[in-house]
Amino acid sequence: MVSMDTLVSLCKRRGFVFQSSEIYGGTGSCWDYGPLGVELKNNIKRVWWRDFVQRRPDMVGIDASILMHPMVWRASGHLDHFSDPMVDCRECKLRFRADQVDALPWTHFCPATKGNRFTIPAGEPCGHCGARRTLCPDCGKGELTPPRQFNLMFKTFMGPVEEDAAVTYLRPETAQAMFVNFENVLQSMRLKLPFGIAQAGRSFRNEITPGNFIFRTREFEQMEIEYFVNPHDRVEGRPADEYWHDRWIEDCLAWFRRYGLRDENLRLREHDRDELSHYSKRTVDIDYRFPIGWSELMGIANRTDFDLKQHAKASGKSLTYFDEERKEHVVPYVVEPAAGLDRALLAFLADAYLEEEVRGEKRVVLRFHPELAPVKAAVLPLLKKRDDIVRTAHAIRDELSRFWRVVYDDTAAIGRLYRRQDEVGTPYCVTVDVQTVGDTDKGERADDKVTIRDRDSMEQIRVGVPRLTAVFGELLAGKRWADVAAGAAAG
Ligand code: GAP
Repeated sequence: MVSMDTLVSLCKRRGFVFQSSEIYGGTGSCWDYGPLGVELKNNIKRVWWRDFVQRRPDMVGIDASILMHPMVWRASGHLDHFSDPMVDCRECKLRFRADQVDALPWTHFCPATKGNRFTIPAGEPCGHCGARRTLCPDCGKGELTPPRQFNLMFKTFMGPVEEDAAVTYLRPETAQAMFVNFENVLQSMRLKLPFGIAQAGRSFRNEITPGNFIFRTREFEQMEIEYFVNPHDRVEGRPADEYWHDRWIEDCLAWFRRYGLRDENLRLREHDRDELSHYSKRTVDIDYRFPIGWSELMGIANRTDFDLKQHAKASGKSLTYFDEERKEHVVPYVVEPAAGLDRALLAFLADAYLEEEVRGEKRVVLRFHPELAPVKAAVLPLLKKRDDIVRTAHAIRDELSRFWRVVYDDTAAIGRLYRRQDEVGTPYCVTVDVQTVGDTDKGERADDKVTIRDRDSMEQIRVGVPRLTAVFGELLAGKRWADVAAGAAAG
């Protein structure tokens, strides 16, 4: 598995992710997506929306505002429950999540070695004196305060006056907008249960210990679905909410596999009873084997009717569904597949990363699924001194970029250009050479064909320029390289 340091360095060097406000020393745990990062992120979001909203008759989407009525957070339970236990070091003042201190490597000044300083792996005792950690894991000197609850919501003020009445919060999850818009969506779209509302957008959490690159940040994007079911229905002999919960777990796992995450890096993790959120009847996480170890990629919770009932009670509005068959109003149950976009991006990056040796040289390649790859093709002129070759390459890029993100590059020799594109995961390179345009001095006629190189196999085929758009259409829609190559060989 690739290390996090390698990924962070590649991301910076090749324009995927930069430290936020880097010229001022950086903003803790905030990251900016660069030119390739934003393409990758948009592609992940786009295929998620296409697969889970556009293609499904039972799904619709919304895009709600980040600032919501403060009552939303009282009703949802976030004001009372959305907190982590925090401890402070009395010496260095660093803060830690109380439940995560033991998972950190710790600093120890060992009395058995005249106070020498050691960094000891998480959870282990000192190999010299046998002591276990009791002090601050970072400075190794200060005592930790008793844990106190710290609410993770970012507080702000609505309007020009900073007074209590104007306090509001940046949303810590996108989910609540789907609940408070339940009636609007139901009525405007004339939906029948079961149906889901999806939203992708920013959320904010004042995490006590953010870190591990884009894994845990204070500002991030979520892709969430609230799937409403009739709690009185049964599907295949089971309560509808339980049936749909399992269906969504399978569908989400299959989605991550389809876009490249390997089986051995994915697992399901059932939440224990004492770990369940205040609203949940059952929660299953999809964990991914990140460079930092197994951690949550997304969660799929059965939130029952908790949220709709809470908002109905707090707002005084009825948030029910009329069951025509049973002639009764019901409060739907909700199954919530909640994914983090930044975490998904990190997982796709880590899984795509491959180092291999090709003809005695190291090749770094990001084997992205073509639909996720930030750039779909690079057009490369073999000789940049030949105007006709350069002109043709630009014309090909212009044509292909009507449909896909396609770049032109002539800033190095061809071998180097190929390696550059491999390293950012571009699935195909198109090379324009002398044969493409011909050589009048030598009496050689143009064959009007270019070479397409496949990133993963490094095989090359020759394709007529007029067929390029159709060939890329097939390749990027998932047709196998071998089949396209066989077609090209047959003429
Ligand atoms: N509405 C339910 C909900 O928000 P969650 O498990 O707290 O559930 C869902 O968040 C997903 O959002 C997580 O699985 C993770 O992928 C992402 N996420 C949560 N906190 C994050 C953070 N601080 N930084 C990056 N991603 C985060």
